[in-house]
Amino acid sequence: MSVTIGTPLQASAFKVLLLGSGELGKEVVISLQRLGVEVHAADRYDHAPAMQVAHHAHTINMADHNALKQLIAQVQPHLIVPEIEAIATEVLLDIEAQNVATVIPSAKAVNLTMNREGIRRLAAEELGLPTSAYRFADSLESFRAACDDIGYPNFVKPVMSSSGKGQSRVKSFDEVDAAWDYAQTGGRVNQGTVIVESQIDFDFEITLLTVRSKHPETGDIETSFCDPIGHRQDAGDYVESWQPQPMSSQALAEAKRIAHKVTSALGGCGIFGVELFVKGDQVWFSEVSPRPHDTGLVTLASQYQSEFELHARAILGLPVNTARHSVAASAVIYAGVDDHNLSFSGLNLALAHPDTDLRLFGKPEGFKRRRMGVATARAETTEQARELAYATAQHVSVNQN
Ligand SMILES: Nc1ncnc2c1ncn2[C@@H]1O[C@H](COP(=O)(O)OP(=O)(O)O)[C@@H](O)[C@H]1O
Ligand SMILES: [Mg+2]
Repeated sequence: MSVTIGTPLQASAFKVLLLGSGELGKEVVISLQRLGVEVHAADRYDHAPAMQVAHHAHTINMADHNALKQLIAQVQPHLIVPEIEAIATEVLLDIEAQNVATVIPSAKAVNLTMNREGIRRLAAEELGLPTSAYRFADSLESFRAACDDIGYPNFVKPVMSSSGKGQSRVKSFDEVDAAWDYAQTGGRVNQGTVIVESQIDFDFEITLLTVRSKHPETGDIETSFCDPIGHRQDAGDYVESWQPQPMSSQALAEAKRIAHKVTSALGGCGIFGVELFVKGDQVWFSEVSPRPHDTGLVTLASQYQSEFELHARAILGLPVNTARHSVAASAVIYAGVDDHNLSFSGLNLALAHPDTDLRLFGKPEGFKRRRMGVATARAETTEQARELAYATAQHVSVNQN
């Protein structure tokens, strides 16, 4: 069945409820607005980025089962689009089972990927995809044993965490107890269980944006891939990304095979950020987000349809085009201070070069390592694009008022 889009704020409106209203959601909302969709944006705080461009804003605790159920009953959305992981996902399983709304991309995908254990077991044990060696532990004692089993250095992450929170790289047994304590403070909810992963000695890591969308005539689900995005992480957070990341044709084929397999298992329509480690022709699956990926902000500058437009189209059942028109890079702009009501200057110089662009997210409050904006740049080569994106971001000063 193909989608019919009505008129926003009228009885015929086609309604989307976005759960999580950060900078990635903001761009998805802008894409949906262009197609005449009525958008409701929810988050736990007022004036979140996506709320500022939606028709309606709802401030609720999305991890609260009852609050989330109540909001869905009130809005009566056609689609529910999670933008973050900290959601009462069991509510979404019920909503999907009762056919109340379509969960993007699927309740199963949202439920499995919000917990590192769910997605890791699916990828490695059910689908047989190559991953780092791993163990789960839920007590200090079992954690010590898991670390010794996996060896050093290893990576420790709370199973319910994102953006590097509570994560450490453990270099020897001496660091094990501290890593456990740190993981216990950094998790999101249900603190306790951690994953211990062997370190993969990769040449580079990529995000392979993978879209599941409907064929315009048959309605069959098709899988398409954006060009691989290279990125650099600092303390578990992305600081710059570029597209394309050069890699061997064998490694690219393997990356697509892995991405196709894991996204098919998760199901539904939409974009997925598949994170992979690459060494020569060898590829390992790391993790997957069933939504636009932060490193994919670069596609605002490199593709005809950014990852946000691709997501908007795919979730509406519309055709997509993942082609790239330029080589580009993105560089993150951090607040650098803990304060609210910040202002940004130096924009004239940042945008002086014709191949640069900026997004300022409009977050009401900043803290040192909070992403407040991103600079993008196009160039002939990825090296030049990275330099120009970095220089563009450097021109932006964040000021306290
Ligand atoms: N097993 C590993 N081997 C090597 N590097 C890793 C491993 N796990 C994580 N990393 C590094 O840490 C970053 C963040 O880890 P990730 O699992 O993606 O956490 P998050 O969910 O916070 O993004 C990765 O992008 C990679 O740079
Ligand atoms: Mg990651």
